[in-house]
Amino acid sequence: MVKKKEEDDEPIDVKAIKDIADLPGIGKTTADKLKAAGMMDIMAVAVASPDILIDLTDMTKPTALKAIHAARLAIQIGFRTGEDFLKDRESTLKINTGSKALNELLGGGVETKAITEAFGEFGSGKSQLGFQLAVNVQTPVDKGGLGGQVVFIDTEGTFRPERIVQLAKAAGVDPIEVLRNIKVARAFSSDHQMLMIDKVDEAIRKDNLNVKLIIIDSLTSLFRSEFAGRGTLADRQQKLNKHLHTMQRLADTHNLAIFVTNQVMANPAIFFGNPTQPIGGHIVGHASTYRLYLRKSKGEKRIARLIDSPHLPEGEAVFKVTAEGIRDEE
Ligand code: GTP
Ligand code: MG
Repeated sequence: MVKKKEEDDEPIDVKAIKDIADLPGIGKTTADKLKAAGMMDIMAVAVASPDILIDLTDMTKPTALKAIHAARLAIQIGFRTGEDFLKDRESTLKINTGSKALNELLGGGVETKAITEAFGEFGSGKSQLGFQLAVNVQTPVDKGGLGGQVVFIDTEGTFRPERIVQLAKAAGVDPIEVLRNIKVARAFSSDHQMLMIDKVDEAIRKDNLNVKLIIIDSLTSLFRSEFAGRGTLADRQQKLNKHLHTMQRLADTHNLAIFVTNQVMANPAIFFGNPTQPIGGHIVGHASTYRLYLRKSKGEKRIARLIDSPHLPEGEAVFKVTAEGIRDEE
């Protein structure tokens, strides 16, 4: 048998790999294709399967294997200690939801440097929770709040300033001041929505804003309507993946919280297991750090279930949506 020539013998200079484009066999064009598909960094290549790289870029299998191998070597240089991670987590802040039970479920409140996704049926309280957070994040630091501003991306035309006024009055703060600190933008297409998130960083720096909360209500409605039909499902997932990646980076850079909503429809055909299918499926599931499944109970009562959290136990909390906002059950 003739021994095949090994092409992997060339040494890989891992220190020179700072970007996907630096990986062997990957030039700028290929790197751009990967980035457009949401594969933004070396880590993404390191954990990818060769088939995904081949699908996205038409590269050969040996090239894909080599790129993945090099990416895996390169990320080892970037190891951080457990202590670094602990310090990072200690710098996170929590936004009060208005309900002690819900705060406890979330480990203290809605966390900065993280994406929190609230999913549930219509009327389950997703938008109301967003409104409450938009008011509560403004509580001054000396009163235990974050003293922060809000970017609210409204994709369904459901932002209600009157409701914010109601919540602010109930919290004993100046409603006009509260409204001024909420920068609202209406998004009309998924591209528009993504562009807005791309521009938040610039806006924060240019206007010297102290944004501590970004809300997208809803994350998925425009994606769902535009990408109806199975053929484009992979496209939708890739765009959502990229979108969430940008959000996570914003959250880390500015120590801010991201709160997104995601409507699901109860599927009466499913009797066992979870009768709901979140839009965006697994990709949203993996990117969001906290996933809250909200469901209606009697009257004002709502039940929140924490799902797939990396460092909190699964559990449920009961809260109420009252005229004053999100509150505990008596
Ligand atoms: P979709 O956006 O349709 O998917 O629903 P959602 O989950 O965003 O629902 P939302 O947060 O808008 O919750 C709606 C529920 O909140 C209503 O059914 C009411 O029970 C409650 N709610 C909304 N506004 C008020 C209000 O002004 N006063 C009171 N008491 N309750 C309100
Ligand atoms: Mg809503």
